[in-house]
Order: sequence, then C-alpha cells, then structure tokens
Amino acid sequence: MDPREHIREQIKESADFIRRKIKVKPEIGIILGTGLGGLAEDVADKKIISYEDIPNFPVPLTPGHNGKLFAGKLEDKEVLIMQGRVHYYEGYTMLGITIPIRVLSELGIKTLIITNSAGSLNENLVIGDFMVIKDHINLFFDNPLIGQNDEKFGPRFVNMGGAYNKKLRSIAKEAGNEEGIDIKEGIYAGLSGPCYETPAEVAFLSLIGADAVGMSTVPEVIVAVHSGLRVLGISCITNSVKRVEKLTHDEVLIEAKKVETQFRILVRDILKKI
Ligand code: HPA
Repeated sequence: MDPREHIREQIKESADFIRRKIKVKPEIGIILGTGLGGLAEDVADKKIISYEDIPNFPVPLTPGHNGKLFAGKLEDKEVLIMQGRVHYYEGYTMLGITIPIRVLSELGIKTLIITNSAGSLNENLVIGDFMVIKDHINLFFDNPLIGQNDEKFGPRFVNMGGAYNKKLRSIAKEAGNEEGIDIKEGIYAGLSGPCYETPAEVAFLSLIGADAVGMSTVPEVIVAVHSGLRVLGISCITNSVKRVEKLTHDEVLIEAKKVETQFRILVRDILKKI
C-alpha cells in the first residue's frame, strides 16, 4: 500500500473514533503547553478522551503534559482542546508528533491556537510575559513534510510567509490590552531538546534574531499551515535563557503555573473575539 494512503487511513480512524464520542462540531483547536493545561477545565458540556484510547494518537511522556482531549464549548465556540502534547525529544518522529494536527483538521477545525512555555532571549521579555509568535525559526534540523507529499493534505511546497495569522495576532493583542495583560510579540526558535541551550547556543540564537526558544510548536505549525489552518501561537515566558546554567524543568512548570489564571482569561477573551 502507498504509505500516504496508510497515514490517511490512520488519521481517518483517529478522527472517526473522536467524532463518535463528541457532541460538538469543533471549529477551533487549542494545544495547551507545559503547565498551561488548566484552561481545558473551563470547557462546558465537556467530553474528555484520553489520548491512550484514541487509535494512532501519540501519548506524552513528559510531566506537566496530561494527554487528554477535551471537546465542548468555551465562550460559545465549539472547541477541541489538547491538554498536553508529545515532543520530538521523546523519540517520536516528526510525522508522529504532528498526527494530532492532521486529526484536528480532519475533524473540521479551521483555526488552531498553539501555546507553549519558552525561554526568553530578549531582555524586554521577562518571566511571566506572554509573547504572541510573529514568526519562527526551525532549528529541529528536520521537517514533518519531508517524504512523498500527499496532495490530499496540502501542497508540496508550503509558503510560510504568513504562517502566524496577522488578524489573530492583533486579536490577541487587543484581548490582552482589554484585560490589562501586556502582550509582547516576537520570534520563536524551535529546537529538538531535550537539553536546554548551552551558553554558546544562547549567543547564537540571539545573533540570528530569536526572541524566545522552546522545544515544540514549529513542527505543528508547519503541518497546520500545510493543512490550510489559521494559526495563533502564544508563548508563556518561564525563564530567561541568559541564566540557563541553573534552569530545570520544575522551574518551567512553576513559572507557567503562576500565570495560568491570566493565561486562561487571555485565551477565553481571544475566543470571544474570533
Ligand atoms: N529552552 C528551551 N525550551 C524551553 C525553555 C528554554 O529555556 N524554557 C521553556 N522551554
């Protein structure tokens, strides 16, 4: 069998399984990053499905990443929220970590809000800040679209010039203003991890124009753009990489938790405006 057909069947199988369990027709997908999973609890009339139960769905192995899909209504929008995600450093392939995006797209979402925790490279971005992602730099040295292209999903050559939707970015900034939450904007560099950056890598990332760095999002956004989705990316700044020598995963989780309430307010307000 053509491997593309096999993948298509797997995605359809996952989507059919989810569709049978949920009552909503989701229009918006949300991926909640490290320590930011609480928003999913706000969903009304929710149906919760463990990733483990969904055929072909990758299961996260990282603390702070629950692995549950929430379907229901939030601010009157029908949503599918992923509480937790898998990472490339867990040993999954690029194809594996982006299967959820294909499945959400198959389920009919048109807009995807991707969130993450990230380290700051820019002194104007401090711990607790939210950064709307304007653009990214792919430093995974891999790409989920490598291999035979499936035209049923999207084109061979993908234009990434407007990957992070301008309108959604301005909605996010407007929502922040109204809630008194200062929203920054910047460039996210995605690396495989699981190591945090060396001081030399930090110097390199600053030099090439990155404002924040993390270990997710970039592959997901590439597949979302390939699928024709509108993307909004939000990083929660949990640390400054200038003092990366002392950084631990616990610190990232603690700092993300501190701004979780604000984050919930912000995303709910964004949903109202979409
Ligand atoms: N580096 C990479 N990934 C991260 C960081 C960081 O400093 N903080 C949160 N995720």
